[in-house]
Amino acid sequence: MQRLLAAIFVYATLVWQPLVAQTGKGRCTPPAGVPVGTGIYDLSVDAKVEALLRKMTLEEKVGQLAQYSAGQPTGPGTGRTDYEDMIAKGQIGALLNIATAKDTNALQRIAVEKSRLHVPIVFGLDVVNGFRTEFPIPLGLASTWDTSLVEQVARAAAREASASGIRWTFAPMVDIARDARWGRMAEGAGEDPFLGSEMAAAYVRGYQGSRLDGSDSIAACAKHFVGYGAAEGGRDYNTTEISEHTLRQYYLPPFHAAVNAGAATIMSAFNVINGVPASANPFTLQQVLRKEWGFRGVVDSDWEAVGELIPHGIANDGPTAVRKGFLAGVDMDMTSSLYHDHLAQLVRSGQIPQERLDESVRRVLRLKFALGLFDRPYTDETREAAAMLRPETISLARTAAERSLVLLKNSPGANNAPILPLSTDVHDIALIGPLADDPPNMELLAKLGRNEDLISFRAALSKHVGEQHLFHVKGTGITGGSEEDLAAAVATAGKADVVMLALGEDTGMSGEAASRSKLGLPGRQQELLEKVVATGKPVVLILFSGRPLTLPWAFEHVPSVMAAWFPGIQSGPALVRTLFGESNPSGRLVVSWPRSVGQEPLYYNALSTGRPVDNADPTKSSSDDKYLSRYIDEQNSPQFPFGYGLSYSSLRYGATELSRVQLKASSLNAMLNARSVRETALTASAEVTNTGSRAAEEVVQLYVRLQGTSVAQPVRALKGFRRIALAPGETKKVAFDLGPDAFAMWNDRNLFAAEPARVSIWISPDSAHGTVGAVEIVP
Ligand code: BGC
Repeated sequence: MQRLLAAIFVYATLVWQPLVAQTGKGRCTPPAGVPVGTGIYDLSVDAKVEALLRKMTLEEKVGQLAQYSAGQPTGPGTGRTDYEDMIAKGQIGALLNIATAKDTNALQRIAVEKSRLHVPIVFGLDVVNGFRTEFPIPLGLASTWDTSLVEQVARAAAREASASGIRWTFAPMVDIARDARWGRMAEGAGEDPFLGSEMAAAYVRGYQGSRLDGSDSIAACAKHFVGYGAAEGGRDYNTTEISEHTLRQYYLPPFHAAVNAGAATIMSAFNVINGVPASANPFTLQQVLRKEWGFRGVVDSDWEAVGELIPHGIANDGPTAVRKGFLAGVDMDMTSSLYHDHLAQLVRSGQIPQERLDESVRRVLRLKFALGLFDRPYTDETREAAAMLRPETISLARTAAERSLVLLKNSPGANNAPILPLSTDVHDIALIGPLADDPPNMELLAKLGRNEDLISFRAALSKHVGEQHLFHVKGTGITGGSEEDLAAAVATAGKADVVMLALGEDTGMSGEAASRSKLGLPGRQQELLEKVVATGKPVVLILFSGRPLTLPWAFEHVPSVMAAWFPGIQSGPALVRTLFGESNPSGRLVVSWPRSVGQEPLYYNALSTGRPVDNADPTKSSSDDKYLSRYIDEQNSPQFPFGYGLSYSSLRYGATELSRVQLKASSLNAMLNARSVRETALTASAEVTNTGSRAAEEVVQLYVRLQGTSVAQPVRALKGFRRIALAPGETKKVAFDLGPDAFAMWNDRNLFAAEPARVSIWISPDSAHGTVGAVEIVP
């Protein structure tokens, strides 16, 4: 008997538990709520799907899983080009990169009229931060911390794109980005899983609208599943090593939030995760996405990702790449053409079960039914033009741009007052820099945007102050630049009351395949900056970039600095209104701003080491200071922390007050198991006062730290935020009702649960300040 018990014990501890840990089975799921009855979860379309499936030949089924690019390529090659013939034969299920009503309708006509079963094509495109109307890049949109605004932006983009026949966007990109060297940081919501999840859900709601079959709704695609942002060294497409704990706690939540918001599709990523490419990864694609989350939509590969299984080294030929990608869970093959070439034969030979093929085809057909494409395959060409650039969309673009601006520094200048907002005494302004009047470099991803639609900083400033009061020179190119131009810039600065410097990156320096090893100002811009500052004139530096730039000199010597990201079509008006104080800056950083590249990856929600350091002075070398986790030549702290941003007002935060001093892990877990995450476990509140003389919008943030847990937890983790408006002198009590999930974590068995812990809670203006409140979680 004793032996039997011992054997059971050994099995339970050595075999069963690791299995649980590895698969995540049997764990408490974090808040879930896959929407039933809507979009791809509308079971009423299933009968139609089955009826159609029964009529399909093997080749026609495979056709539904093949996707090609028929326009401007967004990756290497296009797969094939004989699309018209293929569509007529039912060999194409989806196309991407076509973007006008005329073109989508023409190809759709072939599918609907000439193919045997008349199955419509779904047209996809990267409708990211706009279609024709260019909004700020996603990093800028996230910096608004305004989910309702982001939802409206996505809705507006969907309205425009759908008018051209695009019913599927490859967005939002919800990859967590902790390394500014990675150019695609520009395309996401930054480094935090909580903010990232809120943004992910907002985009999905906006793109998909209240009904996926609404004629102005487009299917969302949360990408890139998963871990793509953790690329080694920030080199795009590179390898990632992410423990299951880290994957679950940081990288997966935004995808889960997108799925819970009803996202119809997911895109599998390019990167290898722990040795297995994300596009052939059964753990993430089957176990997590399908089994744990109940995702019913289509998994699309990223561009050529199935073919890339060969260079990754897990397949030596096309058929093996198809077998591995498909069986792992990739339903649709974007551009590699390998499903087209080999899938039917793999099914015929029994290497891929017929039932697995049918399941993937069902998902694609379900998407098309859910979008209403069988009833309305065409878009109305006559409504296309009127759908673009509507006045309310342009005004939304201006609001979004204003709220995305992050005021990084605004120190008193020579007359003891900050330069910003600009006083009415300012008559003559020198506008210097390559990005002051550069429409093509104000946006990154909205492919249909046109330069003539965009109002540049120069144009808006000139309108505001009058041509005669604006002296504009470039000073240098973004890269390159001559001595004469630098000298002209210095001379121009000398003539003005204030200098505006518009510096930064061009849009080709961030986004896909745009990793950088240096994060300073490109070309001769740093030289220009130093020469202009040396004139002694008050200088405002406006940075345009897809990532934070390491500019220690500027942050020391330039009194006012604003991060503008790439603000889009309303760049000029948004900047002018903000610089002149008609709009009070309210953007907050969604990435930790590094002092130097060597600090990367840099993120606020890091673990403490056993030898933590709080901003130790790198020049000190006493033994107390030496054996710490730090650089000997750089501070550990960022230049500006996550959540940071100034306004023209000053804000005061009162003490963080908590409704309870003790919580019970057992009660929290009971709430989690009952999935009653809306239930309040604890209310935290603080008074926030606008002590300045201007109306302000403040992003009030709430952070939690858990100590004494089975797995080390971050020094702070965002668990709530709220944007509030405060009149001058006004005080508001801001209360956060925290659910059980705010106190739960992925534990040492990869279960999402609460544990006994010491809890610190901050209500604060950013991730580095605020007063702390304490609560204890007892068993
Ligand atoms: C990118 C995806 C994009 C796709 C289609 C790929 O290269 O990684 O984010 O959606 O192209 O344009």
